[in-house]
Amino acid sequence: MSGALLQVRGVAKRFGGLVAVNDVSFDVARGELVSIIGPNGAGKTTLFNLLTGQLAPSAGQVLFDVQDISALSPNRRAQLGLGRTFQISQTLTSLSVVENVMVGAFLHHRGLKDAARRAEEVLHLVGLADRADVRAGILTLSERRRLEVARALALDPQIVLLDEVMAGLNPNEVQEVVSLVERLHAEGHTFLVIEHNLKVVRRFSERVIVIERGAKLAEGTAEDVLADPRVVEAYIGRKRAT
Ligand SMILES: Nc1ncnc2c1ncn2[C@@H]1O[C@H](COP(=O)(O)OP(=O)(O)O)[C@@H](O)[C@H]1O
Ligand SMILES: [Mg+2]
Repeated sequence: MSGALLQVRGVAKRFGGLVAVNDVSFDVARGELVSIIGPNGAGKTTLFNLLTGQLAPSAGQVLFDVQDISALSPNRRAQLGLGRTFQISQTLTSLSVVENVMVGAFLHHRGLKDAARRAEEVLHLVGLADRADVRAGILTLSERRRLEVARALALDPQIVLLDEVMAGLNPNEVQEVVSLVERLHAEGHTFLVIEHNLKVVRRFSERVIVIERGAKLAEGTAEDVLADPRVVEAYIGRKRAT
């Protein structure tokens, strides 16, 4: 038995006749930064939903800190230390930036003052302290992505799951988010990151897991995985098809 922080054991998810996630297993150790890559529709977001409890698995288990969390609610999993961002923005656009982060901070900080203090700390971390009081709806895409990372961090997570937080950003903005993740990782945060930008994946991943048609196709260092002919085929094959 491994003592990894996150242990994914043969998880599967069927939607009717479609097997969106098919018998996927992997571990994430405390302090690691692991990337998940794979073509659109491969099942990456569905896998995240199985880990954080938005979806119940059709088969398999998710262990967190050696506890089986497969049947727990998303809220309970967040309390235990699973923080995440969503591919579809969850920003509450009519609330202020700091209020958005407080929604997360209330999980562990029940008092208004405590939650506000935690939210301000987290906004400092992601470089949004000067935007605390503006309406979240007016943020740029790049600021909004950092706000979503801030909301995840406000849960005081033991692992942070990021679902394509760089998508749609220009190279400078990608650089800002990459630097943020690298800084948090250097401070000891554990990350599991779905990322399409292979340059980014190469740069910061300690390990890469490739998902293709719901199943794990490859796992290893970025260098090894991205040189794997099956992985190249999965990407290029798909591109040809579309
Ligand atoms: N709630 C759902 N109901 C039915 N099918 C779904 C649902 N969510 C995802 N799918 C399907 O599962 C497959 C994997 O989707 P997804 O996990 O979003 O892929 P990825 O994040 O890798 O692009 C796709 O074919 C998608 O259409
Ligand atoms: Mg997705």
